Amino acid sequence: MKEMTLVTKLGTSHEVPIEKNMTIVKLAKKNKIQWGHACERGICAQCRTKVLEGAEFLNEITKEEKLRLKKAERQEHFRLGCQIQVKEEGTIRIWHAPY
Ligand code: FES
Repeated sequence: MKEMTLVTKLGTSHEVPIEKNMTIVKLAKKNKIQWGHACERGICAQCRTKVLEGAEFLNEITKEEKLRLKKAERQEHFRLGCQIQVKEEGTIRIWHAPY
C-alpha cells in the first residue's frame, strides 16, 4: 500500500499508509499523530491544513470548507483536515497549519 506524508504543525514528517475515504484527522488519530481538532464538522478550524503536494488525489473542497475558509486561503491550498479525504493513491504531503 502506498504511503502519504503528514507533517505536524511543529514540522515533524510521518509516513502513513494511504486509506481512501478516511479524513486526515481520522488518519492522523489512527496513526497516533497529533492533529488538533474539536468538531470534525468543518466549524472550529483547529484542523486547518495546507496541502503541500497531491491536491489532485483528494476529494473536492466541501461546502463546509467554502464556508469556513476565505477564498484567498483556499487558493493557497489551505483546507480542513476533517474534510479532506484521499480519493486516489499518489504522492501526497499535507501539513497541519492551524491559525
Ligand atoms: S475539526 Fe473542527 S473544523 Fe475540522
